[in-house]
Amino acid sequence: MTILLAEHSGICFGVRRAIQMALEAANEGSDVCTLGELIHNPQVVNELAQQGIGVCQSSQDIHNMSVVIRSHGVSKQEWEALQATDNQIIDATCPYVKRAQELVASMSEYPVFIMGDPDHPEVRGMLSYGNQLTRVIKPGDPLPEQNWKTLSVISQTTQKLSNLQDLVGRLLPRVLDLRVFNTICSASTLRQDTAVKLARRSDLMVVIGGKNSSNTMMLQDLCAAETTSLHIETEAELEAEMLSGAESIGLAAGASTPAETIIKVFNKIKEIKGEPGTATRIGEIPLFKEESC
Ligand code: F3S
Repeated sequence: MTILLAEHSGICFGVRRAIQMALEAANEGSDVCTLGELIHNPQVVNELAQQGIGVCQSSQDIHNMSVVIRSHGVSKQEWEALQATDNQIIDATCPYVKRAQELVASMSEYPVFIMGDPDHPEVRGMLSYGNQLTRVIKPGDPLPEQNWKTLSVISQTTQKLSNLQDLVGRLLPRVLDLRVFNTICSASTLRQDTAVKLARRSDLMVVIGGKNSSNTMMLQDLCAAETTSLHIETEAELEAEMLSGAESIGLAAGASTPAETIIKVFNKIKEIKGEPGTATRIGEIPLFKEESC
């Protein structure tokens, strides 16, 4: 049998950078907290808590601390509120998210549609940099009944390219000057493309990542459209009957899933299937490629 890991899987550059920035601040002896959970992964959040990096919900409740802004970024109002406190800001907003926020802020004179999940903190942050004509369009949402002279479209960084293409296709006949900014990050695209490729050749996909992680849920949707697919957070959820009959098992993992979790899932599948050989490093799992950034 085969157990393969999608070439691009697990923690992305933006999440790795945010974790490193928080750990560096804690190692320098600062009192550190993250504004909201640093990443959508309960295991990593618990590990950070063990290293003294807690979670605070509002910058108003804390004083004289180093406050880490997570990779999703914050709203303009949250940023300004934070600046008005005596806390030190550690801005771990992912550069891809920062670029999207800056693009929205730069288009202050005409409507901007942000394609994404209106409840996701990244999208709420992007929206806060817009004007009164900026609005969020969920994938598949109907469009307002009107035409536009000028309109810009931007995307949540973790969206599927096909969702952006669908929105642009529906807008084209109705907008004279349509400007499209592809702000979907390359880490998301690579994880989605390689997971789908692997799903097409697998009897079963196991998608690993936080149940509250939007990019992991996106991977699960894409894989489930190709083959049977399970979404788990840790190896503890795996049981033998879930894997029965599967001769080719593919693994994929969201951009906030640590390598250790992926390795434990791989080893547990090996154990359940009675296959020899376990991995101690993620690079030992067949197909996976280390990312250069
Ligand atoms: Fe940044 Fe993309 Fe990761 S936006 S945080 S590199 S998923």
